[in-house]
This record gives sequence, C-alpha cells and structure tokens, in this order.
Amino acid sequence: TLDLKADTSLGYSMLVNKYYSLDKNYVPDNLYKVSQWYGYGSNQLIEEIYDAFIEMCEAAEEEDLKLIINQAYRSYEEQKDDFETLGEMVAARPGHSEHNASLAVDITTDDVEDENFEKTDEYKWLVKNSYKYGFILRYPKGKENITGYTYEPWHFRYLGKNLAKEVFKSGLTFDEYYAYYIEK
Ligand code: DAL
Ligand code: ZN
Repeated sequence: TLDLKADTSLGYSMLVNKYYSLDKNYVPDNLYKVSQWYGYGSNQLIEEIYDAFIEMCEAAEEEDLKLIINQAYRSYEEQKDDFETLGEMVAARPGHSEHNASLAVDITTDDVEDENFEKTDEYKWLVKNSYKYGFILRYPKGKENITGYTYEPWHFRYLGKNLAKEVFKSGLTFDEYYAYYIEK
C-alpha cells in the first residue's frame, strides 16, 4: 500500500490519512494543556485550535449546548495502543492519525456515549455550525469507502476558518478536497 509523507509545511491544511503519515517523532509546536473546564482527562491541543474550540464552545453555550473535549492530541505511542486495541476501521495506524498532528478534537457532551453522540442537539448544532469556527466533521456517514473509517460523529478536524468553509460548502470529504484542490 501507499506510504507517503504528510506535507507538514501546509500547517492546518495538511492531509493525514491512511496513506499520508507523520514521522514517528513528530510533535506539534505550541501544545497547550486543556483546562478541566473544557475537557475531560488531561488533554493537550495546539493553542490556536484550543482558542477556536473555546470560541465555538461559547457560541454553543448561547444555545444552551455544552461541548466538551474528550480527546485531542495523541502521541505516536498512544495511537499505537489505540490501533492495536480497536482495529483499523476505528483507529488510525500510529503516525496516520490527525490526533498525532493535534489537528483533530473528539467532542462530546455531558452523560453520553460516543455511539449516541449523533443523537444529541450538540451534534446537530456542530454539523451545521462547526465550519464557522474552523472545524469540519471528518468521517461522515456514507463516506466510509473514501475515508476508510467508520462514521465518527465526534471527530472534528481543524482546518482554519477559510478552508473549513470551502470544504463544508464543497460537500466533499477532506481526502477528496485535498486531492482536487490542495495537492500539487
Ligand atoms: N479514530 C480516528 C480515525 C483516529 O484514530 O485518528
Ligand atoms: Zn478522533
């Protein structure tokens, strides 16, 4: 199978997927500790993305919705454990996860399991509004053959506001959008 290097010079528009991976020792700059106010456990996230999440969180709060970070950055070793435990339809191989780049956040709300997150008002709001804050739903239902992953209603990819809006409007997965419009 193809094993290509993710183009980290692209920053927030880099593609990390089943084909494009990060080096084993890649660690993003500006990792910032997520406060207990915004997330469960002890998570780290790139500072600019954390700020974007907080802005989104405050907008959601205006509608009485509560967004909580379940998982953000994962190290290569943590990803290896996930992959070995969960398998390739659900977890990326180490180095192949957007979490290894700290470009993804798994979002939840109070008292809900991941598999039920899609039924919440928080999810419904995110699907319509997250692009305004720079995030897109990365592994949609019905696109499993393109993304290579089972539908993940909780996994949101940060692209920055401009690109997120373009990708959202295109209706494409980021894998497709990248192939058509970004990759040189
Ligand atoms: N669950 C997603 C695919 C990841 O491991 O990055
Ligand atoms: Zn995720």
